[in-house]
Parts: sequence; structure tokens; C-alpha cells
Amino acid sequence: ELQTIEQDYPQLLTADSPSQRVGGVALDSFSQVVHEVPMLSLDNAFSNEEMNDFERRIRDRLNLPDNSEIDYVCEPKLDGVAVSLLYRNGLLERGATRGDGRVGEDITANVRTINSIPLKLQGDNIPELLEVRGEIYLPRKGFEQLNSKALEAGEKTFVNPRNAAAGSLRQLDSRITARRPLTFTAYSVGVVEGELPDSQAAILQRLSDWGIPISPYMATVLGVQACESYYEQLASQRAALPFDIDGIVFKVNTIAQQRLLGFVSRAPRWAIARKFPAEEVSTRLLGVDFQVGRTGAITPVARLEPVFVAGV
Ligand code: IVH
Repeated sequence: ELQTIEQDYPQLLTADSPSQRVGGVALDSFSQVVHEVPMLSLDNAFSNEEMNDFERRIRDRLNLPDNSEIDYVCEPKLDGVAVSLLYRNGLLERGATRGDGRVGEDITANVRTINSIPLKLQGDNIPELLEVRGEIYLPRKGFEQLNSKALEAGEKTFVNPRNAAAGSLRQLDSRITARRPLTFTAYSVGVVEGELPDSQAAILQRLSDWGIPISPYMATVLGVQACESYYEQLASQRAALPFDIDGIVFKVNTIAQQRLLGFVSRAPRWAIARKFPAEEVSTRLLGVDFQVGRTGAITPVARLEPVFVAGV
């Protein structure tokens, strides 16, 4: 009914109308988007020792004494697809994938179908240009619903929520994406023309005030020991969380300190992903094949009974 009204009275159609969420004409291909501020990846830590090294490097770079406390933000590391959302004067203008960090794909039509992504920001002092970055993912319940529907329809099921989210965003026909229960959580900003607060936690809070979803599990703590306690606490809750995570991200909270720390190759010095230990399962060795290569080199290849581990 709304679509009919909007067709008859195009002057009434607004950028944030619900009719903009249902998906439209299929595209031939995705066009490319160059990220003005590169979308970086994160260094990993697998032990408390590596976390201590991370803090030591920060202290050294910032010339801080050993007893000084560093302010960190702790956030779950969501296992989905990294995206950039560009808002101009509060209106969603463009959605893009991370791609290789420098060039991604324009997925605006697909992003518009995701209900938790506001088409229009609400509130005061919204920057003229605001690039919000975060993760699009499928909560576990949505993943189960999607797979049971696929089973009923005799279609192929997805092996894990991450693949399902990635596959859903790769659709040239946004009406398909619109039927997938995808959701979004913001974790940083890219290009900004306007004022933002001076800490990571306050920036995320501001995004939330404008209607952008942020993680309810986010916490600010003092010192790397407190980061480890947060890690232990979330690790114990991991199986009961409504979505998949593969670790915890710790970020230096103060933006001025982040700027001083800067980046190495493709990862910031002010953030680290503390990963959960790799999941392990046992299986049976069914046999060994000896493959003969072109040069005569023989490579033994194990044939294993297939098992499901870590979502693959
Ligand atoms: S921050 C400059 N925060 O992890 C910092 N990333 O391994 C860049 N991710 O591509 C990322 N949850 O897709 C950040 N709370 C979080 C995250 C997060 C998941 C993903 C993101 C990124 C990848 C890097």
C-alpha cells in the first residue's frame, strides 16, 4: 500500500521510508568502493603473556611509567562480515564491504534491508559526514531459522553463521538479503567531518545515542589484568551468547593515545584481538594415500573421517 502511494506521489517518498528496506531490482555486479581511511585488521594474542607484551609495547611507545594504568575498552570479537556505513547529513548513503581493506564492494541495496541499521540518524550534533564501521552477522537463532527453512524447501543449508552472513550480503538481488535475519553492531568510525568525543567508549555511546546499535557487552577497564578478567568472564559465557564470537578485542580507550601509537603494516598498535584457544576434536584415520608428484616426490596424505569443528 505504501509503495503504491509512493509511486503515485513521489514527492512523499523519503530516504528512511520502510519501503526502502524490502529490496529492489537485482544488480548485474557490485561496484567498487575505495576506503579513504583503510579498514584495518587486528593483531592476535593467544596468551596472557602476549597480552602483557601488548601493554609493555604501549607503555614504551607512550613513555609511560610501569605503574601507570592504561584505560581499555573491551568488546566481543563478532564473527561476521566487516562493513562500512556512510551517513551524509544523518542519512544512510552507502554501505560497503571491507574487501582487501583498501577497496571493497558497494552493497548499499543489501545493507538497507537490515532492520538494525538506521536509514536516518536521530538526535543532535550529527556530523555532516560519518562513516560507521562494524560487523554484520547472523545471530544463532536467525541462523537456525534460516537453515530449517532451507531444509524444508529442499535447499542447501549453511555450514555456520559467518558463511551464511557473507553469502547473504553477496546477493545481487537485495530481496533475497531482505529475507535473511541479519543484524549489525558498530565498533568504530572511519571518515568523520564533524565533532566526536575523545575516547572510544564515548564515541560508541554517541553512535548509540544516534540510533546505531553497539555491543551491550562492551566494558571499559583499567590495566591489562582487568582485560584478562573480562576475557575469562566472557569465555565462560561464550556458549550461551546469542551470537558467535571468536575472541575479545581490547582497544586503548583514549583517542589521543591511539593517534600517538599509530599502525604497523595493516594493524593498529592500540588494539589487539585475544583469541579463544582453537577448538579441537578427535577423528579416525581411515587410511594414507601416497601421492607421487611431478618430480617424483612422494607425499603421504591422510584420509580422515569427516568431523565438524569450529564451524567447518
Ligand atoms: S576493530 C582498527 N572491533 O575483526 C580496528 N574489529 O581481525 C579494526 N571484528 O575486520 C577492527 N569484532 O571484521 C574491531 N569489536 C570489534 C570487532 C572487530 C569483530 C572483526 C572485523 C575486523 C576483524 C579484524
